[in-house]
Amino acid sequence: MRRIEHDITIMGSCFLVYKVSTSLFIKLIASVDFFMKTPILKHVIILLFIKNINKENGNSMKKFIIMVSLSALLFALTGCMLDTNQSEQSITIFSERHYDTDRVLFDLFEAETGIPVNVIDGGADQLINRLENEGEDTSADVLIIADAGRLHRAKSRDLLQSVESDTLFSNIPANYRDIDNYWFGLTKRARVLVYHPERVNGEALSTYEALTAPEFEGRIVTRTSTNIYNQSLMASFIEIMGEELARDFARGLVANFARTPSGNDRDQAKAVVQGIADIAIMNTYYIGRMMHSSDPFEREVADTVEVFFPNQDTTGTHINVSAAGVTKHASNVEGAIQFIEFLSGEEAQSSFANANFEYPVNEAVEPHVLLQSWGDFKPQAINLSVLGEHATKATIIMDEEGWE
Ligand SMILES: [Fe+2]
Repeated sequence: MRRIEHDITIMGSCFLVYKVSTSLFIKLIASVDFFMKTPILKHVIILLFIKNINKENGNSMKKFIIMVSLSALLFALTGCMLDTNQSEQSITIFSERHYDTDRVLFDLFEAETGIPVNVIDGGADQLINRLENEGEDTSADVLIIADAGRLHRAKSRDLLQSVESDTLFSNIPANYRDIDNYWFGLTKRARVLVYHPERVNGEALSTYEALTAPEFEGRIVTRTSTNIYNQSLMASFIEIMGEELARDFARGLVANFARTPSGNDRDQAKAVVQGIADIAIMNTYYIGRMMHSSDPFEREVADTVEVFFPNQDTTGTHINVSAAGVTKHASNVEGAIQFIEFLSGEEAQSSFANANFEYPVNEAVEPHVLLQSWGDFKPQAINLSVLGEHATKATIIMDEEGWE
């Protein structure tokens, strides 16, 4: 009986030590890439442990317990060190984007550099607010969002840090990155005119400003003035033509609206096909997205409308970017910079831009065939950093001129 009790006590202790040590052992094994990919091996090793315990008895069992306890301690220390290294080596991205092709690119980056990439998706403003609320405790190393105006917001709230990178400087033209290097454009989009070819002669179109002429009365749609895309468009006009002419544009455009602004960019193109308006002001990539939509009406809209790049003989078409910045409190600054450099490189650029039918910022890379079919165009020659700087003034002007 005493022998049985003794065995039970020994087995109980073994079980407890086994539980602690195996969990730590699994941690250790999990940190080794080979074992991570073959979880079945973890279980084989655990089974070998169990088998060993059953075979052992008496003194050798005690020796085994001491050995396992020491191993557990070693594993605990090693595991903690590995955990720390792992979190220092990985990078976390706060991203407005959620495309499958992005994940493929991130996996490629992981394979090339050994730096694991975690992605947290969210709306742009939501991610900016989260970054602000988390402060120094944030897990984010990189912020990826659309519109230079929003990136300026993140910069002015002290959420990003300046980065020096010759790779980024050479891959990204100067006007598509922040003047103080707080963010770097990765893809471009143009804010163009989209029109119904049966109701508008493309040859009659010329500039954004020309849309204020009486002939376009009741024929124009675009979204509200609370939308960052229109705020950035107006901000570009303030930079290029000055406040007064920008105000004249806003006033004249409002006078020619076909309806009170509502809906998103796709809704503007739909309004053109539905006969509510003849011309919409919207971003290029929505045409590509609608062309590949699961909604038959969206495909019909994309097939029906024509794209026009305004101001080709004057100041150029308005351009904006999706961009990335290293967060102020990034724990892996080096990895974050490497990641943005990777996305700006020739290998990643076309896939990253094509995911959303945008133009690559890297001039060595060709855009998607759809975008090529629209032809080359002249963009506004301004540094996009100014869009954020004029954003407040732009909003005030639109508001004062009745742009709802
Ligand atoms: Fe958009």
